Amino acid sequence: MALTMRIRYILVSGVFACAGAIHPAWSADFPQPKTALREAITLTLEEHETVLGKMRDLLALSQLILDGAVNANMKQVAMAAREGGLHGGAHMPPSVQAKLPLPFRQLAQATHRTFDEIVQEAEQTGNRDAILRKLSENLQRCVTCHANYTVRSAPRSQ
Ligand code: HEC
Repeated sequence: MALTMRIRYILVSGVFACAGAIHPAWSADFPQPKTALREAITLTLEEHETVLGKMRDLLALSQLILDGAVNANMKQVAMAAREGGLHGGAHMPPSVQAKLPLPFRQLAQATHRTFDEIVQEAEQTGNRDAILRKLSENLQRCVTCHANYTVRSAPRSQ
């Protein structure tokens, strides 16, 4: 019995070690989830919908940046990246910001800042390698945050 438990322990820890090795979110310089559970952020239904809508915008603008870079269309890269920047439409409204944990906000800030750096690259250097590297860096941030957080909301009260 004790041996079976031990083997099971070794198998289970082996699986987790492998998962840690291949799971890109766990290799980022961001606190690893302490358990398999993601931290839940509670918002109102409207705020929840706003957040998800802005997330879909982030996905769409990331695709536009990639498409612009592939086709050497720096105008498109700059326009899409600006939308994801600190002053772009993908920024969360203050009411939502106040409910977000600090590490979440820091990761979000870094994401917006990197989109602004992509704008600069597109407008000043047109360096596609640099743009792709920064986009990849940002996609890693998306993956990391999604691995660590989830959003939930209470149903509308009336
Ligand atoms: C700081 C945290 C954070 C970052 C950075 C982040 N997201 Fe999200 N995203 C979330 C959370 C939280 C959810 C909700 C997931 C859940 O509740 O399970 C979400 C959901 C989404 C969804 C699902 C939307 C829907 O309608 O269900 C998409 C698509 C998405 N994110 C795209 C992105 C992309 C692309 C990036 C990077 C450019 C990104 N996100 C960066 C936190 C983040």
